[in-house]
Amino acid sequence: MAGSAPSLNEIQEAGQRFQPLWSARGMVASQEGRASEAGAAILRRGGNAVDAAVATAFALAVTLPQAGNLGGGGFLVLWLPGASPAAGRGCLGNAGSGGLGDGSWPAAAAAGASAPLHAAHVTHASKGEAPAGAPSAAPAPFRIGASPELTLGQGFAVAVNFRESAPAAARADLFRRADGRVDRQRATRSLESTAVPGSVAGLLLAQRCYGRLPLQAVMAPAIGLAEQGVPVDRELADSLTAALPLLAVDPTSRALFLRPVGQGGRPSTGLAASPGARTGANTEAMGTVARSPQAVPGSIAASQHPKGWAPPSAGGARSTAQQAPAATPSAPGAASPALRALHPGEILRQPLLASTLRRVARDGEAGFYRGPVADALVRLMRQRGGLIRQADLSAYRAELVRPIAGRFRGHVVLSMPPPGGGLTLLQLLGLIEPFDLQTSGAGSAATLHRLTEAMNLAYRDRNTWLGDPASMASPPPDLLAPAYLDQLRRSIDPARHRPAASLSVPPPPRRESVNTTHLSVADSSGGLAALTTTLNFAYGNGVSVPGAGFLLNNEMDDFTAAPGQPNGFGLLQGEANAIIPGRRPLSSMAPTLVFRPDHTPWLATGSPGGSRIITTVAQVLLQRMLWGANLATAVAAPRMHSQLWPDRLALEEGFSPDTRALLGRLGHSLQNAPAMGAANSVEVLAPRGSGSLGVADPRRGRTLAVGE
Ligand code: DON
Repeated sequence: MAGSAPSLNEIQEAGQRFQPLWSARGMVASQEGRASEAGAAILRRGGNAVDAAVATAFALAVTLPQAGNLGGGGFLVLWLPGASPAAGRGCLGNAGSGGLGDGSWPAAAAAGASAPLHAAHVTHASKGEAPAGAPSAAPAPFRIGASPELTLGQGFAVAVNFRESAPAAARADLFRRADGRVDRQRATRSLESTAVPGSVAGLLLAQRCYGRLPLQAVMAPAIGLAEQGVPVDRELADSLTAALPLLAVDPTSRALFLRPVGQGGRPSTGLAASPGARTGANTEAMGTVARSPQAVPGSIAASQHPKGWAPPSAGGARSTAQQAPAATPSAPGAASPALRALHPGEILRQPLLASTLRRVARDGEAGFYRGPVADALVRLMRQRGGLIRQADLSAYRAELVRPIAGRFRGHVVLSMPPPGGGLTLLQLLGLIEPFDLQTSGAGSAATLHRLTEAMNLAYRDRNTWLGDPASMASPPPDLLAPAYLDQLRRSIDPARHRPAASLSVPPPPRRESVNTTHLSVADSSGGLAALTTTLNFAYGNGVSVPGAGFLLNNEMDDFTAAPGQPNGFGLLQGEANAIIPGRRPLSSMAPTLVFRPDHTPWLATGSPGGSRIITTVAQVLLQRMLWGANLATAVAAPRMHSQLWPDRLALEEGFSPDTRALLGRLGHSLQNAPAMGAANSVEVLAPRGSGSLGVADPRRGRTLAVGE
């Protein structure tokens, strides 16, 4: 063509409206800036992607208390170049490494090595109908835990399952009232809602088996942040204010995050850093706190404490409560008039959390699952009706598992197998792969319609079949079998929405406030880590462990409390996810890695958002793989979500009125949704050595990508 157009560089335009951060070396993207800095500092000290991910996750437990955690759980999917160090460190037992064809989850196994990746290459021409109502139940070998490592490209991938587990005393009907209805209060706000925490075990397992630096070095940034304190910014202050009715109910959380109204505003009103100053500062902060704090029943005794600190005063908490009774959980929104959340600019210091972290850095898992921290947790459980006992803590194990693998448009996608959300993610990708979404275009009504219909089918299967594979009597059918995906896809009408009621039985609606967090890391040798962790709701059940300074999860609500009744995310789930002791609740968390067609590492992503996690991750991948968006544009692009029930297509802002009108005509009931997810993502540039890209999702105020 004569007179070719000037290149983008010549006319000083970058091409897309959003640009990722570039680093010549590694990258950390997380939901809070100081935590990303902590991870990047570990990369600079010679840590690999796993060291940095673990450092960032521990730092988030300090700086992002609504989601980062010691008292919750999560999943990690990682890929590292070269040979795995895990066997040499005693992490694999007898299990060696397997290739892409040796899947332990039914997917790959059902078809054998000849068709290793079921989400791959879905063809319209595939024969073989699945029986009505059920996918083709291939005689899938149901092996769990064999070959957790998967060789891929010039390295290997593995996943860490540190999802919380149901305590031994839990029963299927735990949260059912006499009338059969679920007691939502107990399922989400009580100590019975707490499952055995997995985060400490998972982070330590990953670091021990795959990290490069000593654990102490990796945990040092988090310990420093807890000890020195972090200034509260507006987003944290707003989040604490929203959670005030929840946090006010618990004396330990109250002392950590709340202050008397009218008191201070001075930056020093957090719990003071030095043991000497602590009592006084706390007294000041709490206004009516008794001058001689007694140990909270169930707290770590001062004498047992490394620095001899007493925990926040029960007397103080009581006097605050007496002065102005805290809102009761049954009256959410009726905040105590006498308490306020920490203000922007005040310092959140967490010396008790610092000492718990120090104990873990020194003693490893035993520092959390045994000894004073475990004692404090169990004492709290006994005193306030919780189910977790020392035997549950002692029995908890994080596990190395094989990532679930699929192929989409030539790329290899690795994600978290059940109880994680990766199978549903791959099912969704497998359903939509043959659609010509490039022609219909990002954000068009035709594309959104197809995505919605595919999402609803994938959620129906999730709800029906999935649970913790470790405790299922028999394997679920192969939901990724090409013939089954073809059959499902053929049921999608391109011109009409299929009402949810024609696919399954309607539940009563519900909605609650939620929080989780995702971080992604790339290191300078191409290593990738995607880690999602959660307390379930923001601040979990709002209860902190006295003397140990960390919040507890309410993950038991992710189980099926009663068939036909939705959980906090409106998810209707099945018997496969019923509460049984030791079982891990089904999760939507889907930390995900993508590899180029030549199997070189490409990107790491994932998201919070409860049931919207899977659809968020899918859309980031589609933007990047189908529609030519760079990583920043892919993350920023408006998102949609549908999960069968409620029968609504949720749309973020950013879709045009014309598109909405067209969707309405196709039979969709539209819902304006608040921003969905926070897909902090990274990418490794090719060829190797050209650096990495990072994107902090703009939907949250504290997210940050930091280069090494
Ligand atoms: O594991 C799950 O699916 C949920 N507990 C995740 C909760 C969540 O993402 C809340 N986030 N915003």
